Amino acid sequence: MIILVDFGSQTTHLIARRIKELGSEILIVTPDEAMEKAKGARGIILSGSPAGVYEEDSPTIDKKIFELGIPILGICYGQHLMCQLLGGEVVLGNKKEYGPAILNSEFRIQSSELLKNIPSGITAWMSHGDKVVKIPQGFETIAQTETIEHAVIENKNKKIYGIQFHPEVIHTEFGEQLLKNFLTIAGIKIKKQEINKEFVEDIIADIKDSVGSEKAICALSGGVDSSVAALLVYKAIGKNLISCYIDSGLMRDGETDILKQVFAKHYNMDIKIIDAKKEFLIALKGIVDPELKRKSIGKTFIEVFEKIAKESGAKLLVQGTIYPDVIESAGSKYAHKIKSHHNVGGLPEDMKLILIEPLRQFYKDEVRKIGQILGLPKEIISRQPFPGPGLAVRIIGDVTESKLEVLRKADKIIQEETEKEDLYKNLWQIFAVFTGIKTTGVRGDNRAYGETIAIRAIESQDTMSANFAKLPWELLDKISTRIVNEIKEVNRVVYDITNKPPATMEWE
Ligand code: XMP
Repeated sequence: MIILVDFGSQTTHLIARRIKELGSEILIVTPDEAMEKAKGARGIILSGSPAGVYEEDSPTIDKKIFELGIPILGICYGQHLMCQLLGGEVVLGNKKEYGPAILNSEFRIQSSELLKNIPSGITAWMSHGDKVVKIPQGFETIAQTETIEHAVIENKNKKIYGIQFHPEVIHTEFGEQLLKNFLTIAGIKIKKQEINKEFVEDIIADIKDSVGSEKAICALSGGVDSSVAALLVYKAIGKNLISCYIDSGLMRDGETDILKQVFAKHYNMDIKIIDAKKEFLIALKGIVDPELKRKSIGKTFIEVFEKIAKESGAKLLVQGTIYPDVIESAGSKYAHKIKSHHNVGGLPEDMKLILIEPLRQFYKDEVRKIGQILGLPKEIISRQPFPGPGLAVRIIGDVTESKLEVLRKADKIIQEETEKEDLYKNLWQIFAVFTGIKTTGVRGDNRAYGETIAIRAIESQDTMSANFAKLPWELLDKISTRIVNEIKEVNRVVYDITNKPPATMEWE
């Protein structure tokens, strides 16, 4: 198997997933365990990290690991650490680099097993501030970018490799090929693993075993994740699952109807609709800080659940948490918290309910595949993701009923126009943001001082990286005109043209 040493990168689990998909077993270990667990491994991968190698207390490993004769691939921080420990030099780059860079490997004279079948000039995805300026003895540079001299380095004899970019993110061209090449170097046979019917039946059997005859509450939101999680548990424990939909008032237009239609009709599930709009507005009153908003929403959800649990005797709570939610809420020892996803980091410590999160290990595309196997209708499977804290994280500043109303109207226009152009299905997400910025405008002959709505449209496959969508100008024109004409409070519409990283998809 492959050992993956986790230094806290946001993409550690994504690396693990890619390796698993290629048919190899992989074990994620902490830096302290690395030496012990490496014995018997075929290959070692060193992950990235939010830390810099020159920082005090930055995570490190036993240098002897490089003497074990096992092929090693260092990614980003992994490359820096390898260089620092083996006598190279790493500096704080004066220019931080996020997103695409062109990888040039044309200059290399020797062939490289790591770059086999990868042409020069591919796009590689970067997310770093530091860089290697001197490589250790025995190493050779085999690819560069315009700003990084040592983007890929190798010690051919020892089969030790370091790369500055992230082959695991979907936006790196030939990223999978690079990982395949590393596995081949490590002597592992490539065999793609699939999510199929048996795999899903195993998940259901696991839930059945662990839940037994207990009752569980499930928080349906109409989104893909909670729908798939609910169905998995429903298949496992049937009527012992109490499904509810909490109307927080932070949802989009028409959400409750879709939910009733699909679950009550299609699956004959009995759904309790709970009106908690007031509770959420009161809890959010005056809160501006995004993290506090998320925490307050998480807490209110749990309060409502605990009330239902008390009435029904349920001890368990099903949540549709997926892997990116876990990692952004800082799920590993060295990872930095990006945001507290309301169903992970936003939960109060004294929560009495025990969580069942059957999708905690999966990415969105995998969840959609599981949903398909379970027979979920297309209208749910192909829905764009919607954040647990709802529209509250799309309103910059405090959340009020009137701002929610404006945002809901703008969002509806965006959804309608995108559907008309048949573009909705190609996008990861498209939505409106209430920016909280007031600007001057003119309506008729009068001065207007009104709100600014931002449009965010993104393409992504794995949540960890994304491009802003290059929507046709005509469509943006139509959306903008409708928003300013139909919503009197708004007099300006802007388009967000930032990729992830460095921006996250949601504004908060
Ligand atoms: P970011 O903004 O972190 O979002 O780039 C990545 C994806 O996750 C969704 N998102 C959430 N989903 N609970 C959720 O269930 C949350 O708290 C949450 N925050 C963001 C977001 O809509 C995007 O698709």
